Amino acid sequence: MMKVIFLAVLFALCWSSSSCEQDTGYYLAFPRNYHFTQSLKLSISTTESEPVYFFVDTLDGFQFRGIVHDNATVTVELPLSFEVTNSTVRNKGIRITAATTKLTVHGLSHRDRTSGMFAALPCVKQNVNEYVYYGVTYGTTYLSQLLFVGCEDGTQVKVGSEVINLNEMETYLYTNGSDLTGVRVVSNKPISFFSGERCTNIPVGVGFCDFIVEQLPNTALWGSHFLTASLYGRTAPDIYTVVSCAPSTIVQIHCSNSLPTQVLYEFENNYETFTLSNDTFCTITSNHPVLVVQFASGQEADNVESDPFMMMLQPIEQYENDVAIVVPSNFTVNVVAIYVRPEEFEPEKVSVDGNSQTNVNWTAIPCADGNVCGYVAYVSLTEGQHRLSHQDGQCGMIGASVYGFSYHNGYGYPAVGTVHTLLQGSAVSPRNVKVGVESPNVLTVQWDSLRVDCSEVNGVIVKYKVQYVAQNSDVVHTKDQAARQNVTRPKMSLTGLSPNTNYTIQVAAVNVEGYVGLLSAPLSVQTAQVAVSSPSSRNSEGLTITIGVVFFLVGVLVGASGITAAVIIRQKAKRQESSKEPHIITKPNQVYEMTLIRNPGAAVMEDPVYATVPAC
Ligand SMILES: *[C@@H]1O[C@H](CO)[C@@H](O)[C@H](O)[C@H]1NC(C)=O
Ligand SMILES: *[C@@H]1O[C@H](CO)[C@@H](O)[C@H](O)[C@H]1NC(C)=O
Ligand SMILES: *[C@@H]1O[C@H](CO)[C@@H](O)[C@H](O)[C@H]1NC(C)=O
Ligand SMILES: *[C@@H]1O[C@H](CO)[C@@H](O)[C@H](O)[C@H]1NC(C)=O
Ligand SMILES: *[C@@H]1O[C@H](CO)[C@@H](O)[C@H](O)[C@H]1NC(C)=O
Ligand SMILES: *[C@@H]1O[C@H](CO)[C@@H](O)[C@H](O)[C@H]1NC(C)=O
Ligand SMILES: *[C@@H]1O[C@H](CO)[C@@H](O)[C@H](O)[C@H]1NC(C)=O
Ligand SMILES: *[C@@H]1O[C@H](CO)[C@@H](O)[C@H](O)[C@H]1NC(C)=O
Repeated sequence: MMKVIFLAVLFALCWSSSSCEQDTGYYLAFPRNYHFTQSLKLSISTTESEPVYFFVDTLDGFQFRGIVHDNATVTVELPLSFEVTNSTVRNKGIRITAATTKLTVHGLSHRDRTSGMFAALPCVKQNVNEYVYYGVTYGTTYLSQLLFVGCEDGTQVKVGSEVINLNEMETYLYTNGSDLTGVRVVSNKPISFFSGERCTNIPVGVGFCDFIVEQLPNTALWGSHFLTASLYGRTAPDIYTVVSCAPSTIVQIHCSNSLPTQVLYEFENNYETFTLSNDTFCTITSNHPVLVVQFASGQEADNVESDPFMMMLQPIEQYENDVAIVVPSNFTVNVVAIYVRPEEFEPEKVSVDGNSQTNVNWTAIPCADGNVCGYVAYVSLTEGQHRLSHQDGQCGMIGASVYGFSYHNGYGYPAVGTVHTLLQGSAVSPRNVKVGVESPNVLTVQWDSLRVDCSEVNGVIVKYKVQYVAQNSDVVHTKDQAARQNVTRPKMSLTGLSPNTNYTIQVAAVNVEGYVGLLSAPLSVQTAQVAVSSPSSRNSEGLTITIGVVFFLVGVLVGASGITAAVIIRQKAKRQESSKEPHIITKPNQVYEMTLIRNPGAAVMEDPVYATVPAC
């Protein structure tokens, strides 16, 4: 009976609309905190209205299976042994996967008077030949540290004269007594890249030393437009570092307070550091993409309860429509600075936890020629989860910096949900592609529209191209569909197909410039037979499950009792494979992990059971 249910579930899941999602993978690790950490925490949140099932896996035996609702972050306390203390500690990566793209993950390394927090960036494949990262640290008080986490086996990272080989979830900590800002790191595959200092004084020589850390994106995710606001409540100046990757980069900084426009060029060692007094609001623009990091000064700089942190600034190109953030415990002041572009500046549509921000003070941020290029408001936050959104459909974008202070302590991170990888015009493919079998001659294809309609950098997406090829055929068919701004899941029927034939289907977006984006991973789906066929007739061949990179499914079962329960199935101990492999073939005699969730309101799943697919 178990077998029957199992296979029926697999079958139903695959063809039902809400399953077979392309998943999101986060890989992270914690570089060493000053004198070792006292607490390592993952905060997992979602903006998805449906519960999200997520998996935390490691090479170290630690694992956690959880369920997160949009009303409550799930905190996972990690063993302190996950701190990466030196370059010989190689197996401390943490993988978080879920069947949705709307997961946000934050990491906190807490120590009394020296904490650091970061927003994890999903590890995504891009249309690049190599993945290039640049270190950002500050000063030489103690040790600068760069931490690499492999997202795939066979990753090779080059930094300085060192070549480091990483497999999935493996870590490597690179340290140096010098400032590692501007140090170039090149990888053949995407990695998660963490940068910071074990304990640093900001500005140099001003107390006190604090652990700083941030996950930094590769150059393809950098931007050319930034809004900045000085840190709330501080009278000390803020320090900014701008990193360039192109030799002829020119950066212009326009600020409030009648400050003269600053122009940075001929970057020495790929970066420039500058200081802005408190109460200063600026726009930063560049002719080539740059990375901008804001640093908080130490408490001794102004005797305001605080201490250093480093915080990446989101480029406008990466602003979000709807994002979950988390405020850690142990801080007395917690603030979010919310940035909005002028064309979307409608305070009634900017919301924090569903409340319009009409009663806060919005400050105009100047740019060239006396124009206003953005607005910012500070909003105080309490401990726990918050949600920031712009309620103008999917087009209203906001940026946000989240930070906090307490006595000799500080943390800061950008509000990051997804990453938009269309910077190069063609680097992104439509996600969540699903194919349904309508009849012997018709397949339906559906995908998520790309959220780029309002983005200047990526170009307006004007249409989608669906490409399909019958098995054993060389004829590639394509069919176009105009992109409509109000359609979030475009759908297309492929008609006139041959019965009982496998078709390989891929979808790409085309922008107004005529760039055709990457094709989505190929999905192979068989049209129905002309004769009536039952699902179980397919068992002997195994079932092809259309699903993304990591292998699990979420489905809903209605048991005999009428209680709704969810089942999650994935191949036992399956590690991520190349995203070129878009299916799980449920092979006879293979073991799958199934986790039954009787109470989807709970935060923790029950222990999984394992079942073998029958040989039939
Ligand atoms: C690296 O850290 C590990 C774990 O903290 C420790 O056992 C080992 O001795 C350290 N190795 C070196 C070379 O410091
Ligand atoms: C690391 O430190 C050494 C001196 O201790 C220095 O020669 C070297 O250039 C540094 N490496 C980097 C990448 O900064
Ligand atoms: C900025 O600093 C000056 C003193 O340096 C102080 O008078 C002023 O109140 C500060 N502004 C804010 C918003 O804290
Ligand atoms: C941090 O906050 C938690 C919960 O409020 C508390 O139990 C813990 O003692 C605090 N830790 C420090 C180092 O202050
Ligand atoms: C907005 O600014 C004004 C003047 O500086 C101040 O009186 C008021 O309290 C501020 N309001 C909020 C909500 O911060
Ligand atoms: C989208 O908008 C167009 C007009 O702009 C309208 O004709 C169409 O019905 C809308 N589609 C949906 C799904 O709302
Ligand atoms: C066609 O697809 C089915 C599953 O849908 C699979 O079992 C079979 O191996 C495929 N055939 C070929 C030739 O790829
Ligand atoms: C969140 O929502 C779920 C499902 O509606 C509910 O079971 C749970 O009690 C809620 N949790 C909180 C903290 O409100």
